[in-house]
Amino acid sequence: MLGLLAVLCACGHPAMHDESTLRLARPRLDIGAAVQGRALRTDSAYATAVARHFSIVTTENALKFGPLRPSRDRYDFSEADAIVEFAGAHGLAVRGHTLVWKRQHPAWLTEGAFGRDELLAVLREHILRVVGRYRGRIRAWDVVNEALADSLAPGRTSLRPTIWRRVIGPEYIELAFRFAHEADPDALLFYNETGAEGRGPRSDAAFALVQDLRRRGVPIHGIGMQMHTKLDQPPDTAALAWNMRRLAALGLRVHVTELEVTTANARGTPTERLARQAAIYRGVLAVCLAEPACTALVTWGVGDRYSWRAPETPLLLDSLMRPKPAYTAMLDLLRDRTPRTGTTR
Ligand code: XIL
Repeated sequence: MLGLLAVLCACGHPAMHDESTLRLARPRLDIGAAVQGRALRTDSAYATAVARHFSIVTTENALKFGPLRPSRDRYDFSEADAIVEFAGAHGLAVRGHTLVWKRQHPAWLTEGAFGRDELLAVLREHILRVVGRYRGRIRAWDVVNEALADSLAPGRTSLRPTIWRRVIGPEYIELAFRFAHEADPDALLFYNETGAEGRGPRSDAAFALVQDLRRRGVPIHGIGMQMHTKLDQPPDTAALAWNMRRLAALGLRVHVTELEVTTANARGTPTERLARQAAIYRGVLAVCLAEPACTALVTWGVGDRYSWRAPETPLLLDSLMRPKPAYTAMLDLLRDRTPRTGTTR
């Protein structure tokens, strides 16, 4: 009788024993994907895969300035609402991407010839409205994305000349964080950057930028490492671990925010390529698992068909939403893991 009860009990709580998906096998680390509201609504295989495999989602385009603000006085929250509602219904955390960037701007913004005070008012109103709407429902925000210039002089921070940098000045970054914190004091606020994952002038510049914000008491809680990776140029995992550690020492969380492994023109047979792709995903996950400050690992898309790189095949699931070797490699690593403790997500 007791035995039967125990079996029934285990069946009633599959999440306690079932490690059959990345979501269920996860330790103190969320694994997720960037998602599209339209695909969640129209493709049931896609929606099922998101809810089944992942514990966190990022809004791929829905919260970018352009899609959200077709005109100055109109907000279109439909896509973002669909994602946040889906996440709420399936117990998924949400990363909001992104409040301030260099691209996907509407013409009314770029051609508006705004003066400093006016653009500052636009920025403040935008952030208060958007972050405020999802207060308590979006856990983490990429407040500022890719502020660093493409080429950098070693040892110093050099900001990309976006409309925000040109019209408001370098303080646009700190102001964006302050506005976001005002709108949702409990949200985790991230600076997100590309190509700043390992060692080198770019990661030094990102480090200097967030270190300066921390020193001055700006409300920043984490750094996002995009990690758009190429199959023939695997990331240096030792350098990645070293960089995560120095960022963690500033008191910051680290999220891997846009992981993908593109395959274009890569050497090897299809099977070899899948195996090498799996090794890269597994290697990044291993670094994240070893670093308590790394609390989320998000891939830039759900299945290959929806990748912004399609017809390349950079993701964990194939176009029919079936797990690829990279998915299995990550799952195997999670099942082998030693339980760990760490910061709250
Ligand atoms: C990409 C989206 O995936 C595309 O659908 C869109 O056309 C362009 O932007 N770094 C980022 C993301 O921070 O916002 C970008 O997303 C990919 C590169």
